[in-house]
Amino acid sequence: MPLIELKNISKIYGSGDDLVTAVKNISLNVERGEFTAISGTSGSGKSTLMNIIGCLDIQTSGKYSLCGKDTSTLSEKELAEIRNRDIGFIFQNFNLIPSLTALENVELPLIYRGIPKNIRRQLAVHALENVSLGSRADHLPAKLSGGQQQRVAIARAIAAAPPMILADEPTGNLDRKNGSDVMKILYDLNSQGKTVIMITHDENIAAHASRTIRISDGQIVSDVNNYVP
Ligand SMILES: Nc1ncnc2c1ncn2[C@@H]1O[C@H](COP(=O)(O)OP(=O)(O)OP(=O)(O)O)[C@@H](O)[C@H]1O
Ligand SMILES: [Mg+2]
Repeated sequence: MPLIELKNISKIYGSGDDLVTAVKNISLNVERGEFTAISGTSGSGKSTLMNIIGCLDIQTSGKYSLCGKDTSTLSEKELAEIRNRDIGFIFQNFNLIPSLTALENVELPLIYRGIPKNIRRQLAVHALENVSLGSRADHLPAKLSGGQQQRVAIARAIAAAPPMILADEPTGNLDRKNGSDVMKILYDLNSQGKTVIMITHDENIAAHASRTIRISDGQIVSDVNNYVP
């Protein structure tokens, strides 16, 4: 059974005369352990598709099964549990909480998961060490560089060891060096067995993934396996 199974998924925003079809009839399977890049121009529907895959949004039509479960049958509470337990999210703008230190930011989703304080601390410290930021644990986001902030966000995404990472333009606000550091972390996570789905408008970055899906105007226009044994 595929990890992700999208069947004829469409997403229409707006109402009345003001309708935007952001995703048009997309069918797509993603297997466990894949590293998939989704690329396409601005407005092509990448984030819309990612938000559906991440159970942050619901399709207008079509069927989305995650781990064989039809997500339309799940309650909001069950969807929240999936987002919290099974998916690590990484965003272009880092989305760190400015008043919390790096360590506290990483701990936050662990609090939501009800993990006891001492274990939480250990997991958060370990996650920050994994992205080479152990020495910056007490810094507020404003005192960190963009690349460091994104690594804190990655630590937050991986602290609870979710099997799947969804990253929406994770390198979009980073320079080349920091961008390639973030890509290296994503590769490492994938080689440790995590399924990674990453959105990028940068075709060069997309080409490093083992699978590259290009979307245009809400539809898949190519789906290429880059893996060369
Ligand atoms: N909440 C919304 N309400 C109405 N229209 C929306 C909404 N979100 C996105 N859209 C529209 O849906 C289309 C796809 O948007 P989406 O954000 O998925 O594109 P994208 O590929 O992620 O673009 P970018 O590279 O700029 O992030 C666009 O035409 C956009 O204007
Ligand atoms: Mg987007």
